[in-house]
Amino acid sequence: MKALIAAGGRATRLRPITWTINKHLIPLANKPMLWYVLKKITDAGIRDIIINVNTGEIPEMSRALGDGSEFGARVTYIEQRGGAKGLAHVVANAQEQLQGERFLFFLGDNIILGSISRFVDRFQQENLDCMIALSRVKDPQRFGVPEFHPDGSLKHTIEKPQHPPSSFAVTGIYLFNEKFFEAFKTVQPSARGEYEITDVITWYIQNAKIGHEEITGWWKDTGTPDALIEGNALIMDDMGREEFCVHCDVPMETQIQGMVTIGKGSRVGPDCLIRGPVVIGEDCEITNSYIGPYTAIGNRVKIRNAEVEHSIVFAGATIDTTRRIVNSLIGQDATLVDSQRTHPKTGHHLIIGDNSFVEL
Ligand code: DAU
Repeated sequence: MKALIAAGGRATRLRPITWTINKHLIPLANKPMLWYVLKKITDAGIRDIIINVNTGEIPEMSRALGDGSEFGARVTYIEQRGGAKGLAHVVANAQEQLQGERFLFFLGDNIILGSISRFVDRFQQENLDCMIALSRVKDPQRFGVPEFHPDGSLKHTIEKPQHPPSSFAVTGIYLFNEKFFEAFKTVQPSARGEYEITDVITWYIQNAKIGHEEITGWWKDTGTPDALIEGNALIMDDMGREEFCVHCDVPMETQIQGMVTIGKGSRVGPDCLIRGPVVIGEDCEITNSYIGPYTAIGNRVKIRNAEVEHSIVFAGATIDTTRRIVNSLIGQDATLVDSQRTHPKTGHHLIIGDNSFVEL
């Protein structure tokens, strides 16, 4: 089997961060989001992987993710011709590579804990034409949603319905066979101008043999800042103890609690408390600060006199403020410093783009 990963699109909900970085390269626990997708796919035994990217982004993506050898896989990149025209278009754009194959289609912004092997195995063992993974959600109107017949079989799937017919989302983990390209010919762009994957799935429901499974564990579409920060936290929870390691000298007086990684060349002062799970990159400087659970700090970050918790701090950022920073995304090379004013210290919720300068 092959796998196709969707890693293009505009990611408008994550601006300004995504003005300068493809959303799928945003670091979660200091690794690009797609790293976890590649791991999931290769753990399920699929080693021939195509990544769909926006026009002009192949160099950036291949620099960050490589050729797959890290995973014992072969990764190739293709550009989505004609721009981001929807998920069914992503697959149609890869027809040359996927023709005659049974394949996994994985949305690069979906994070799932646990294995996807059971979906892949069932698709293969029952020789299904299509297989979809569903997850119960609070806000189905944000997703593709299935409607069921009274006997529990699928009736159709609809994209972002105002009045959802069920409380399930169609997750971004799909399995298809070669009939996809026949189905695609019947699909017209939706009101938002996209070739919707839900229309292709409806075609499979009506014309072929489709299976569905519920994901009972954690699944997240990381399309919003809050979802990204939550994804970062969940990934840290999922990391094994052996994946955390301190690679530099830390003074005896520094308090390190729980599972913490600190990269090579980083300096952490004696006046710091780091309470894991926390991942700190290389060549960072942390002085007189508290770094709280579920914080990921990229390389070359400077943190002074600060409290940072449950946040993602990108490479090269500087934080020097006595305010408490929580649930925040601090972009690459951003600077966050105190001003002279004093206001209540209730915590701040921030989304700061790359190279920003913020005076609190
Ligand atoms: O996450 C699950 C949901 O993903 C499904 O429930 C929906 O049925 C499906 O349409 C999709 O909805 P989103 O609104 O979340 O799709 P989004 O535009 O965020 O794109 C999903 C991924 O595909 C994302 O990683 C970007 C990538 N993409 C998107 C488009 C539109 C491309 O690579 N090319 C594209 O043309």
